[in-house]
Amino acid sequence: MTIDHEMVPTGLTGLTGSTDSGHGATAVAHPNIALIKYWGKRDERLIIPYVDSLSMTLDVFPTHTTVRLDPEARTDDVVLDGRPAEGEPRRRVVLFLDLVREWAGRDERAAVDTRNAVPTGAGLASSASGFAALAVAASAAYGLDLDPTALSRLARRGSASASRSIFGGFAVCHAGRGVGEAADLSSFAEPVPLPDFDPALVVALVNAGPKAVSSRAAMRRTVETSPLYRAWATSSKGDLTDVHAALRRGDLEAVGEIAERNALGMHATMLAARPAVRYMSPATVAVLDGVLQLRKDGVAAYATMDAGPNVKVLCHPEAAPRVAETLLAAAPGCSVLTARRGPGARLRSADEQ
Ligand code: PMV
Repeated sequence: MTIDHEMVPTGLTGLTGSTDSGHGATAVAHPNIALIKYWGKRDERLIIPYVDSLSMTLDVFPTHTTVRLDPEARTDDVVLDGRPAEGEPRRRVVLFLDLVREWAGRDERAAVDTRNAVPTGAGLASSASGFAALAVAASAAYGLDLDPTALSRLARRGSASASRSIFGGFAVCHAGRGVGEAADLSSFAEPVPLPDFDPALVVALVNAGPKAVSSRAAMRRTVETSPLYRAWATSSKGDLTDVHAALRRGDLEAVGEIAERNALGMHATMLAARPAVRYMSPATVAVLDGVLQLRKDGVAAYATMDAGPNVKVLCHPEAAPRVAETLLAAAPGCSVLTARRGPGARLRSADEQ
């Protein structure tokens, strides 16, 4: 994997044969895990975050999405993991296609087929890979020629974390300035060039089922009711400054400490919401105990968690087998897998399977 490939999304350029007769396109994108979290929207319609965030795109759990225009169809046809999508997931895809049609000045309906290699809605960032892949495939299918920033802004309208999956490696998402159009134009992700920082992220899957409260609903409740939210948002700014410095030094221990405190702080804001949002399960806490034990034993391992019970543990690649073994022993029944930094979203060529 070269850094160039990692950092420059293919977008609509650089690949031939990826759109068929201009009416269809297939894209692939990977999830990302935030080391400095995004939590809370200041504009729900435009999906503008309150805080900046910083993430690592993974090399596992890709989403493959095909968008094919159907000039005869009267409605969009959305298939998610082999089944017709219904309810909220379908509504979000159709809204997103409406936006792409508005940007492209076209009105054909589309058939969308999307396949996640990761359980959807389990706090494993399927919305990040999902909307990044949809942004790349849909913009190509509708003939839009977007630069990486515009592609990232478009992906953000599906899910703010998706703006970061447009890029490989590390990416920072700007919360943007102002309101309305000014905010929309200034909120996007961009790559953080760190060619030499290549840690492992051991993912402990404690529960792959869908979460009880969607991240969207949980964020809204936290912003509206948690007395801790503002304090966390303020401290998150300091975390971002600190993590940039630690990343530049290639100091994994410092990066891990900052990421862990940022994630635990985010979960504290949710626990203080009314009513509380609690994504952690007993197995989550057991994994967190395993991480503490590793550190006591001198292994640099640091946890981060998103809107779900699963835990991702940052460590040096050579320590990953020991970390995985310890997490499995701490929470028997969970499954583990080791991820590394992965590539940005791209169009898939017609001959790729
Ligand atoms: O973009 P969404 O709605 O999937 O929100 C995800 C938010 C977290 O995963 C919890 C944090 C983050 O920055 O990815």
